[in-house]
Amino acid sequence: MKNLNPKNLMRIESGPIYLRPLLLSDAEDIFLAIDHSRDELRPWMSWEPNARCAEDQRLYIRRAQMLRRKGLSFDFGIFDILTHAYLGGVGVGGISNIHRFGEMGYWVRSDRCREGIGYAAAVMILRFAFEIVKLHKVKARANVANGPSLGLLCKLCFTQEGISRDDLLVNGKWGDHAYFGMLITEYEKQKKRFDREVPWKNFG
Ligand SMILES: CC(C)(COP(=O)(O)OP(=O)(O)OC[C@H]1O[C@@H](n2cnc3c(N)ncnc32)[C@H](O)[C@@H]1OP(=O)(O)O)[C@@H](O)C(=O)NCCC(=O)NCCS
Repeated sequence: MKNLNPKNLMRIESGPIYLRPLLLSDAEDIFLAIDHSRDELRPWMSWEPNARCAEDQRLYIRRAQMLRRKGLSFDFGIFDILTHAYLGGVGVGGISNIHRFGEMGYWVRSDRCREGIGYAAAVMILRFAFEIVKLHKVKARANVANGPSLGLLCKLCFTQEGISRDDLLVNGKWGDHAYFGMLITEYEKQKKRFDREVPWKNFG
């Protein structure tokens, strides 16, 4: 993979979706997608109650742009390749440039779940994280009751490393979270499968 500056990466495309950094003009669409998906997001995503209007999303996007400039977090929107509709979010954040790790996060709007979008977007982010940002390890965590997220991490072949009790307060409830990790060596073992299942069409 040629050396690309992760801060300059504008679009990652595969099959029916593409990822790109968020623009302030996406705020309204993101808000509508969240508003549509609240029931599914509320148990797992602590930010759901804070997404009250498009202006909240503009603040979030400004912060995401600042963290991208600093190389600390790379958030992408997931978009439909034909309609350009906003389908959800994916990214790698909490990046340590000393220890070369980051944490992956993802969500898909509820009326587009179970179409393979979460898996494809997560594979694209793993490629980005390991091949462009050059991380050594990608971490992820999911509430122990979040079946879809646990299933996704399992499908991606993450290794479960432990459970942290009362790890996050979400929707007024403490949740135990399973911690997962993928090392660069483990990613390399999956790379052929990822390339076959989620082929790149564009990158730059
Ligand atoms: C988790 C989430 C992103 C999955 O997105 P998705 O686009 O529906 O996932 P995919 O269709 O690509 O499915 C990938 C795998 O995830 C698992 N999965 C997805 N939905 C599932 C469900 N309802 N029940 C069980 N497993 C599920 C399966 O293992 C699936 O593989 P399979 O299709 O071969 O069975 C989505 O359910 C979501 O946005 N949930 C709410 C937000 C959230 O929980 N984010 C993660 C916080 S840690």
